[in-house]
Amino acid sequence: MKRYRISEILAENSPLKIGEEINVKGWVRAFRSNRFIQLNDGSCMANIQAVVDFEQWDEALLKRITTASALSLTGKLVESQGAGQRVELQVEHIEILGDAHPDEVQKTVMQPKRHSLDFLREQAHLRFRTNTFGAVFRIRHSVAFAIHQFFNERGFYYLHTPIITGSDAEGAGEMFRVTTLDPKNPPLNEDGTIDYKQDFFGKPVNLTVSGQLEAELAATALGQVYTFGPTFRAENSNTSRHLAEFWMIEPEVAFNNLKDNMDLTEDFLKYICSYILNHCSEDVKFLSERDAQEQAQKPQNERNEMTLLERLKFVIENPFKRLTYTEAIDVLMNSNHYKKKKFKYPVEWGIDLQSEHERYLVEKEFNCPVILTDYPAKIKAFYMRLNEDGKTVAAMDVLFPGIGEIVGGSQREERYDVLLQKCEEFHIPAEELWWYMDTRKFGTVPHAGFGLGFERMVMFVTGMSNIRDVIPFPRTPLNAEF
Ligand code: 4AD
Ligand code: MG
Repeated sequence: MKRYRISEILAENSPLKIGEEINVKGWVRAFRSNRFIQLNDGSCMANIQAVVDFEQWDEALLKRITTASALSLTGKLVESQGAGQRVELQVEHIEILGDAHPDEVQKTVMQPKRHSLDFLREQAHLRFRTNTFGAVFRIRHSVAFAIHQFFNERGFYYLHTPIITGSDAEGAGEMFRVTTLDPKNPPLNEDGTIDYKQDFFGKPVNLTVSGQLEAELAATALGQVYTFGPTFRAENSNTSRHLAEFWMIEPEVAFNNLKDNMDLTEDFLKYICSYILNHCSEDVKFLSERDAQEQAQKPQNERNEMTLLERLKFVIENPFKRLTYTEAIDVLMNSNHYKKKKFKYPVEWGIDLQSEHERYLVEKEFNCPVILTDYPAKIKAFYMRLNEDGKTVAAMDVLFPGIGEIVGGSQREERYDVLLQKCEEFHIPAEELWWYMDTRKFGTVPHAGFGLGFERMVMFVTGMSNIRDVIPFPRTPLNAEF
């Protein structure tokens, strides 16, 4: 008997007819009155209702049909008596594929009731079985797919950049070392430092913090490329927006300037939001209702007035607000919030904006996504292009409501001499980056790119407020379980 996935059976345009004999496999969500099984196979949010005629079955077998057990059910599709579903399954054959231990299920997230996200996180291996996480991870998949589709439609090439690297692209020194040396007894140089010449690669290497530098090399030949891979940062920030291991998408485009870069980013983020609205409507609807319940529990002034659905539509339909860092500092300093001393951190030209400043701009002042450009050179990475004023760089950060920084990017410094000077100022050994510097010697051109934090994007489209809830197995300081 052919097995169908529940999404195929329940689809409005399903070719399956009433009376047709089919097989479904999945896990029991609930079993009521020894008669109604709610079966879920992960293909969609909805369960299929399977009806058993209990007189026909052995009591011992029925007893094994409990929440979380795995079944293979064969039977006829019949019109559903209850509301909500077009069809249900009249069961003719039951096979128990895997038993569940009812007293243990009681202790897990599979017990059908509302659980806290903290509790769900402790059981990250089981939380896929809940409606919320089913929806989140189906959407996560679709965001990834939409990203590949967006770039493919525009003639970008997907580039795999190395995960193990010797360079610190961002220059922030937040890297995880990769080594095969014995930590108890590493080979030493005469001066007592570790002799990395004896390590696997013959030099110190780490997990990548960004694929950008390598992407730039490819962009100056293939024209337009993007990376989509895991990145690692050993920053000790235990916030709801930081992971030690996260995924990043980094397009890099030859001949683009900062304005082109902003246009590409805006199109890209809007494309992802529309894709999710159009392709994951059932999951988004569920998460939107979930989000509305969460919002209702917050104090009035912290509530998001828009539902998740409205937020997605808002991003698609409205232009992002674009302004320079310098203008943003003015806005902050002229705000009542500032005058009433409500910011915890100081505001003045030259500071690195704190999340409270970014949130003020996005959520209070402009109430829409914001692109901030032209930051002070000192607070941004060495590779960003120096502006005419000699003190700002062609940087851009995209700030999203409820998320903060979702994208960071820039036009790159394509002038060899200026780049060399920047390396010196930032104490970056240009000779180690000889391969990067080389691109500026052989037909160097203006080029630009950006990095989208994949999980932050998934947070936005799912309405989940903690980044640990949009990646299957989060890695954060002191936490690498599962
Ligand atoms: O702003 P970042 O550090 O930019 C870069 O890495 C550049 N090389 C990108 C480029 O121009 N090609 O990081 C880019 C984005 C951030 O805006 C944020 O969304 C995300 O990556 N991000 C993190 N996401 C989760 N956890 C962390 N610890 C993150 N750090 C950055
Ligand atoms: Mg950044």
